[in-house]
Amino acid sequence: MEALFTKLRRVARAQCTVLVGGETGTGKELVARAIHAESPRRRAPFQAVNCATFSPTLLESELFGHVRGAFTGAVRDRQGLFALAHQGTLFLDEVAEIPLDLQGKLLRVMQEKTFVPVGGTRPVTVDVRVISATNKALRQEVDEGRFREDLSYRLRVVPLLLPPLRRREGDVEALFWHFVNQLNQQGMRRIEGVTGTAMDAILAYTWPGNVRELRSAVEYAFVVGEGPVLDVADLTPELRGEPPPGISSSSLADIERARILAALARHHGRKAAAAAELGISRTTLWRKLYAHRLR
Ligand SMILES: Nc1ncnc2c1ncn2[C@@H]1O[C@H](COP(=O)(O)OP(=O)(O)O)[C@@H](O)[C@H]1O
Ligand SMILES: [Mg+2]
Repeated sequence: MEALFTKLRRVARAQCTVLVGGETGTGKELVARAIHAESPRRRAPFQAVNCATFSPTLLESELFGHVRGAFTGAVRDRQGLFALAHQGTLFLDEVAEIPLDLQGKLLRVMQEKTFVPVGGTRPVTVDVRVISATNKALRQEVDEGRFREDLSYRLRVVPLLLPPLRRREGDVEALFWHFVNQLNQQGMRRIEGVTGTAMDAILAYTWPGNVRELRSAVEYAFVVGEGPVLDVADLTPELRGEPPPGISSSSLADIERARILAALARHHGRKAAAAAELGISRTTLWRKLYAHRLR
């Protein structure tokens, strides 16, 4: 990671186009923001857009703006992100998802620094540094005809590849404590230590969602568990090697309720034992039983 940060600072000053690759949650947007913050453009706006979340028409308008009457609902002129990011940086997340016909317009603005808003006639000139991100291999998108080769070269003047968390020796533990310290400030719970078994599970896990998932797992421990020591019972089902709960929308309250019921069942209704397993006091268990209408 240290090597990455050195490279980052150099890249920031160079003002060139950067393509950040890496699995979801590896910190691509964070890196883009850091590059902007270290660059001479830092006082100008940083704009970000996820290209996968817009329909082709809306994405064009989002990027380049539109003039009044350009399409149904375009009741007034609207600036796009290229105009709003003037003199700053525009972050194009999931850039591989930009439809082919829009790719030409993107290439033009990057080469000639001008574009025409949707429904407009006059070209607008902008000075924008483009940083983009993708979790796909752009090379393959090009080979399969979904991405313009010329644009791919334009976008990845400097490619940065963020390795998945499972390959980043030492980072899991460092980031774990980073997030614990952050959440300790919020006063929900104060975690001062972690049991060996829990840390083993954390280190053995493969983190498919990378840093984002690690952050969520720490948050989960703050909500679900209690006391100064984080134990295995505070870990997500995935981390404990259990199949994830069937209903993906199950709220934290549901998860807590299910965990209490499971603990009580395992200890044949003995509340002291269940509380001990859950790592909470008997009074807290009583309080939670009331809250969940379990008694
Ligand atoms: N090195 C890091 N230190 C602290 N937080 C990080 C780090 N890398 C990623 N994060 C956090 O993880 C989450 C996912 O990062 P993000 O940049 O959105 O990933 P991506 O864009 O690759 O999906 C964000 O909340 C981000 O702040
Ligand atoms: Mg992202």
